[in-house]
Amino acid sequence: MTPGEFSYSNGLLACEDVSLEDIAQAHGTPAYVYSRRAIVSRFRSYGQALAGLPHRVCYSVKANSNIAVLSTLAHEGAGFDIVSGGELYRVLAAGGDPATVVFSGVGKTEPELRFALQKGIHSFNCESEAELDLLSRCSVGLQRPASIALRVNPDVDAITHPYISTGLRQHKFGIDFAAAEALYARAAALPGIVPEGVSCHIGSQMLDIDPLLESTDKVLALAGRLRGSGLAIRYLDLGGGLGVRYRPGDRAVPIRDLIGRLRPRIQASGLTLMLEPGRSIAAEAGVLLTRVLLVKHNGEKTFVIVDAAMNDLIRPALYQAHHEIVPVKGAADSDHRFTADVVGPVCESGDFIARNRELPRVQPGDLLAILTVGAYGFSLASNYNSRPRPCELLIDGSTVHLGRRRETYEDLLRGESIPV
Ligand code: LLP
Repeated sequence: MTPGEFSYSNGLLACEDVSLEDIAQAHGTPAYVYSRRAIVSRFRSYGQALAGLPHRVCYSVKANSNIAVLSTLAHEGAGFDIVSGGELYRVLAAGGDPATVVFSGVGKTEPELRFALQKGIHSFNCESEAELDLLSRCSVGLQRPASIALRVNPDVDAITHPYISTGLRQHKFGIDFAAAEALYARAAALPGIVPEGVSCHIGSQMLDIDPLLESTDKVLALAGRLRGSGLAIRYLDLGGGLGVRYRPGDRAVPIRDLIGRLRPRIQASGLTLMLEPGRSIAAEAGVLLTRVLLVKHNGEKTFVIVDAAMNDLIRPALYQAHHEIVPVKGAADSDHRFTADVVGPVCESGDFIARNRELPRVQPGDLLAILTVGAYGFSLASNYNSRPRPCELLIDGSTVHLGRRRETYEDLLRGESIPV
């Protein structure tokens, strides 16, 4: 089960036309390897499915913010969904058009708001009265009107991991649905604030899209009421959240099916549809290449200790996430399978990539590929245990582009100093 752009050729797993063994030899491990073709094809799927409907697809930068990935998407005409000044800086460095950027997030700072206004971003998804007041002051000071949407909380359960579910009343996100109309009226009266959209994002890794459709109906009805009260609402931002297949048995909804279900709802409204997909564009486009350091037996248990760890990929530790692991060298004989925990060298028992996983027999030195890590892989990586972060490589056919070099020990100390 490898996404299409990763397949075995002459017994070796390859990304597009480059074998992962060659990549490991040239660039070392652990290494994040991304398929440019996979990223582009997922992004284009959105465009194709949305044809004829006024829309903008704003890739959610947090999923994978490497500037090689962002520039690939900018060339494809993507807009961008950002949640910090740092993400805006990356988008600009990658050649993204600020006029396509939407700024989300529950706690934007004054310097971030000013930076975004100065760069002329498309709009702000505001999540509180205090944020509206601050944005209004910044906007008046800079003499730059701010187009806004309120991110409303529709109180719909996204049916996903609790850490990435955001659309229930108990979550910190969005404006209470019942209070939204009054806050829109207040926003419209604030100097420098131009309410033009309604936004909502109920969660991530949704394998069932019914909650998304339910929240869409709620926000469409709200947009209708706001228009009825005289507000010039032009766009509807439904956020991201479409899930991908992490396990062979997962049933992810294809992009075109999601859009097919949204289309009739949106069409009648005449609103421009904005979406903020992250995972559904980047996840399947990446693998984490790792080498087996040793195999260790502790009582009943077998541990395969690899050179990638929780600092490189935290999803299993943080969300009990499942990532398939396959050998780079050929599909192995099923008689030689065994069950092991695949773990990294970090000093925590939470440092695991997989638990009780059935694997083909492996030896020290073997290469493994951890699948579906193109989203929320490197972007969540840290230097914990003073481990330099891996390199990131973007493959385009037979070309290997070093999107980010492996960090060095010098990088680890950057910005630090010893007191005199
Ligand atoms: N828009 C907003 C406002 C968001 O908060 C998010 C994700 C997205 C769009 C993109 O959602 P996507 O299409 O990628 O599901 N670290 C977690 C995922 C956190 C998602 C946070 N917000 C993970 O590894 O599963």
